[in-house]
Amino acid sequence: MVRLMERSERLNTARRYELEENCKIAKAERPGFHMYTPIGWMNDPNGFSLYKGVFHLFFQYHPYSTHWGPMHWGHYTTGDFIRWELQPCAMAPDMEYDKDGCFSGTAIEWNGQHVLMYTSVNESQDQNGRNTVRQTQSIAFGDGVNYQKYEGNPVITADFLPTGSSPADFRDPKLWWDEKGFWSMAGCKGNDGRGQLALFHSENLTDWKFMKILDESRDEYGKMWECPDFFSLEGRQILIVSPQFMTSDGKEIHNGNNSIYFTGDYDPDSMEWKRETPHMIDFGLDFYAPQTVLHEDGRRIMIGWLQNWDNYLLPDEYLWSGMMTVPRELTLKFGRLIQNPVRELENYRKNKCCYSNYELSSPNKRIELHGVKGRCIDLTVRLTQQEFKNFSIHLAAGQKYETVIHYDKERGILTTDRSRCGMRKDLLTERRIKLEKEDLEQIQLRILLDKYSIELFVNHGKYAMSTLIYTPLSAEGIFFETDGNASLDIEKYDIVTE
Ligand code: FRU
Repeated sequence: MVRLMERSERLNTARRYELEENCKIAKAERPGFHMYTPIGWMNDPNGFSLYKGVFHLFFQYHPYSTHWGPMHWGHYTTGDFIRWELQPCAMAPDMEYDKDGCFSGTAIEWNGQHVLMYTSVNESQDQNGRNTVRQTQSIAFGDGVNYQKYEGNPVITADFLPTGSSPADFRDPKLWWDEKGFWSMAGCKGNDGRGQLALFHSENLTDWKFMKILDESRDEYGKMWECPDFFSLEGRQILIVSPQFMTSDGKEIHNGNNSIYFTGDYDPDSMEWKRETPHMIDFGLDFYAPQTVLHEDGRRIMIGWLQNWDNYLLPDEYLWSGMMTVPRELTLKFGRLIQNPVRELENYRKNKCCYSNYELSSPNKRIELHGVKGRCIDLTVRLTQQEFKNFSIHLAAGQKYETVIHYDKERGILTTDRSRCGMRKDLLTERRIKLEKEDLEQIQLRILLDKYSIELFVNHGKYAMSTLIYTPLSAEGIFFETDGNASLDIEKYDIVTE
């Protein structure tokens, strides 16, 4: 019999607060079709899971300000990944072992219960002001609305790890089960400071054993590996991690915190994991810490935090900070992870507007097409003829503002440039994708433009690029431009969720 804790006043306060404050966010200010925080601050997706036929998404949450603070777990449910229903805050940092935060983690359904595993953070200061951080792994059980922490928490501490591992950097457990029992994998740091993934096993969810270090950053792919996900897809095994402090390889990997994936093979009997060269999941400025869930219909669906730790750009007057990407269906092709927006988004398409083989042939003039404008749209552009050096699409464009998707054909480079999107203090404004030769023949760009973001999917999901734009909402123009001749197939819809 598992003994559980009662609900705390701290959690009750957060629940009251989010209800009172959420309604203060004007409808016009809310994103059109992206999940966003009910109030205050949101970062990583957590506990993305299917429980009793409903999809649950928790998230790192500080309701009381638009900046990161003592982490709670906020909570939404959804039936179709586009409309999200707010649930009461699921966890607050209300125990001694997690008083400084309920950090990221995952969830499973087990024996009719919804089981959450998360990182409990405790910090203390000695008399000289020196800080000691302890990150441990804890569990909570719930019914889809109310969650109670296990009385014997934390269930995994850094003492379980090999000698020399850091007790301060040990977080973000991925929990799953198979016929051999329960498994958990968390990021940690070895005695040389390199990122590692520690694998644990349990037969009852409460007593855990360290099994092995499953993988390491080897100083090739960043330092601490945050937020691992590990799942099979079309006969292969996929490892997703979000390494901190990567350094650019001049090609694909950018400086800073990125999310990458490895394809590979995993043998659960021997716990042997063999991986191949990693790739970026998303090339944009704003994407981190994704998690996936397996749909009953077999689809593997991923959602990521649509923001970046190193750029805090929210305009001062906003009451909320933090959005998630539109969930993406994952498939594999040529060893690459292919990402496309969930097909459910198509149910919200309205006001179709199409152009077939539109000839763009007024060099260096911005062309506006009747019916193609707006700030909540799903726009697909296919380049059927490419007699030019440069081609660009200007989005969220007004007299003063625009964000540009630019295609340099000779160099095979696709860029999102938000330098004129109107965000003050934005020093890093551009990200690129170097396309492969075989991508160039027919370029297809699908753009999900919402009030505050652009998600670009290239060539049916081979590359993705996510970017925040806090551009005034009056800038709703879309322009096309080339220095030669281009033929375009265009399909545009408004996305209307209300
Ligand atoms: C990743 C992360 C996690 C941690 C959480 C804290 O964005 O740093 O490693 O659990 O955010 O909010």
